[in-house]
Amino acid sequence: LSGDQVIVVSNREPYIHELLHGAVVVRRPASGLVTAVEPVMRACSGTWIAHGSGSADRDVVDRNDRVELPPGQHEYLLRRLWLTPEEEQGYYFGFANEGMWPLCHVAHVRPVFRESDWQYYRAVNQRFADAVVAEAREDDPVVLVQDYHFALVPAMVREKLPRATIITFWHIPWPNPESFGICPWRREILQGMLGSTILGFHTRFHCKNFIETVDRYLEARIEHEHSTIQFQGVSTLVESYPISIEWPTAAETALWRPVPECRRRVLDRLHLPADQRLAVGIDRFDYTKGILERLHAVERMLEKYPEWLGRFTLVQVAAPSRSALEEYRAFRDRITVVTDRINQRFGTGGTLPILLLAEHHEHDAVNELYRAADACLVTSLHDGMNLVCKEFVAARDDERGVLILSRFAGAARELPEALIVNPYHVEDTADALHRALTMPEAEQRERMAALRTTVREFNVYRWAGRMLADAGRWRLRERIAE
Ligand code: G6P
Repeated sequence: LSGDQVIVVSNREPYIHELLHGAVVVRRPASGLVTAVEPVMRACSGTWIAHGSGSADRDVVDRNDRVELPPGQHEYLLRRLWLTPEEEQGYYFGFANEGMWPLCHVAHVRPVFRESDWQYYRAVNQRFADAVVAEAREDDPVVLVQDYHFALVPAMVREKLPRATIITFWHIPWPNPESFGICPWRREILQGMLGSTILGFHTRFHCKNFIETVDRYLEARIEHEHSTIQFQGVSTLVESYPISIEWPTAAETALWRPVPECRRRVLDRLHLPADQRLAVGIDRFDYTKGILERLHAVERMLEKYPEWLGRFTLVQVAAPSRSALEEYRAFRDRITVVTDRINQRFGTGGTLPILLLAEHHEHDAVNELYRAADACLVTSLHDGMNLVCKEFVAARDDERGVLILSRFAGAARELPEALIVNPYHVEDTADALHRALTMPEAEQRERMAALRTTVREFNVYRWAGRMLADAGRWRLRERIAE
């Protein structure tokens, strides 16, 4: 694809400019999508179109709403699109996050579908599709459409640029046809997505669910052997591409503080004793992440294995997320109440079993926590992939530390050397935590070395490379056919 123009479309932007005490600061958002796509964009220097959401975002763009990124490095262009409060409410908070997010995660929060949200979703999708067309220099750019915010964009772009190669990646799970069927606009969503040349999911299981959903609700031709769907003259390849992270370079890891120093610094900062055992959880404050189940597992471990009383702390970082939604605020309140109750029950001599840090942490601070921890807990109730577990593995160049991983995260399929748990089974997770804290170093090393080999090899460039290679083959076939 060298020489071809690459355009990315996502809702979340890779850098957010905020006004803080009168000065403009740049922040990286907590988003698995951004973590994965940004290194790819740096490598292929295209144009990224995203919603400008920061309070100082408008102050740093040029006349065409563009800014060069990363700050000071100028490797690709970000074109910011401005949404009105009504558009943001209807399209992002409403349809995307109260409708599609719970619909696809099936995490016991009921999806809400409002006619007006749907109208905004359609209109905003059209605005992003128009921006792609405006940015296209040729009639056949490579367009990378990201996530559930933009199910309609592929067909909208295809209408104006029939020769475009459209790669859509769905970063969240795809449910079974019955679950998806409750969406009043199920046909429109599927038709929109089938404007794609390639439609990527994290796992084969999600691909299978998608194909079955199309089979149930559209008159499309499905070729199971090639995993393609023919619909209204467009052929879409439905394939799994497990997403990953950028493996840290030697130059980066050379800057990391040694693990014992990370431990000392973290324990000092949190006023914990020098021999305290630590587990870490890093999440957005989201009801799909299994944070409540995790707290219950800590409580159960302390009941069942009282030797950890006063000697163990879970440091739970929970970055505020989508707080304009009642469901998210209620979840946050619930977690705060349960944390306080467990801390009252088991806190001893000023040492608390759970430290809830409900604020955004930049990558360096998170990396230090990963390196300081004896265990990392990823207990999602349902998760497309989950990149926290891969970041933890990448951070542990000392080959120590234990990963406890939910079987309902896509990553569990790739990382069987973790302690795999069912987060709904509190006893199971409590036992896994105890096992992690008592695991001999040799076993830790053996497991971590295997995990590191997988994440290093199946890194984010492999994810993007496989997709782009499939797209390249498709383009070649199209050109020969022309
Ligand atoms: C998930 C979604 C991403 C999203 C991220 C953060 O990882 O798949 O599309 O960017 O959550 O959520 P937010 O709503 O803050 O962008």
